Amino acid sequence: MPQIHYLPDDRTIEIDDDDIILEASLRADIPHTHICGGSARCSTCRVLIVEGLEFCSPRTSPEEELAKKLRLDPEIRLACQTQVAGGKVILRRLAIDSEDLESFTDEMAGKLICAPVGQEKKIAILFADIRGFTAFAESLLPYDVIYILNRYFQKMGYVINRNGGMINNYMGDGFMALFGLENSDKAAEQAVRAGVEMLEELEKLNPYFETLYRHRLRIGIGIHCGWVVVGNLGASNSQTVTAIGDAVNFASRIEAANKQVGTSLLISEETYQEVKELAIVDRRVSVPIPGKSGEYPLYEVVGMPPLPVEIEEISEVNEKSIWQTFVNNLRALYAVVYNWIRKIWSHIKKL
Ligand code: FES
Repeated sequence: MPQIHYLPDDRTIEIDDDDIILEASLRADIPHTHICGGSARCSTCRVLIVEGLEFCSPRTSPEEELAKKLRLDPEIRLACQTQVAGGKVILRRLAIDSEDLESFTDEMAGKLICAPVGQEKKIAILFADIRGFTAFAESLLPYDVIYILNRYFQKMGYVINRNGGMINNYMGDGFMALFGLENSDKAAEQAVRAGVEMLEELEKLNPYFETLYRHRLRIGIGIHCGWVVVGNLGASNSQTVTAIGDAVNFASRIEAANKQVGTSLLISEETYQEVKELAIVDRRVSVPIPGKSGEYPLYEVVGMPPLPVEIEEISEVNEKSIWQTFVNNLRALYAVVYNWIRKIWSHIKKL
């Protein structure tokens, strides 16, 4: 007669051939979680087959589908879908208590969170930090500090979103933003454009801060493109998307390098290669990066041609597209000519 031995309960029960594991557990009063009622839609009944996988039925198609989605190993089986016949199976229930259960399901949202832990992606990472803010904040009341930071974050958040990015982490007066989470084709361009617009936006904000607090904010921005692992981080009901990897640390170091070089917006070589036809670059510097050997080339960006503009007043479609193309090409040409003159000038200076 087939048997199932349960861990960590350390209990063995006898079953009929082709019994479904979940049904056998419930019949024997073994607590076995089954949130979706046994329809292969929650995975809370999953068990680890420690021994006797050969006595388990092949995966049903709903189990196969879920296993693929959650990337389950062959030994992890859904008890509600697995029959046992012809021998003894030793298994371990995986959702033992409510804490285990939380790791399988997001009870608040009622949805699966067992998606892959992370995904490798090439994205652009932007770090920004307010220069000397701690010293400035010491002269202010806490309410004022929160007021200033919120006003600053709100404006910058708007710029980041407008350019296709998202702020995913605030660190005191600094933040990290990610570009290209959905589509990385234009991630570098979006991030650099956002960096330039952030500086412009700060210039508009500063007269206001000057009037109220007799202080102008200055920021440093660092941008790098590279491969990272993007995933959800945090407790199940308060997760945020974040990126982990060397590229993130490098972007943070580039932001810090602004202090050494006396710049506001620096980008890495990898980012420069993706935007060199567009970005207006003032200079190239070589900077040692903490934690890495040698010096790394960084580029100070001072401008980007604005995004194509929508011209709605002109009714004729053909006229509109011709005019739009003309304006956009003119702006791109400006960036190319500027970079071209800059290169010639740096050659002349070397002669
Ligand atoms: S009870 Fe939900 S998948 Fe088995």
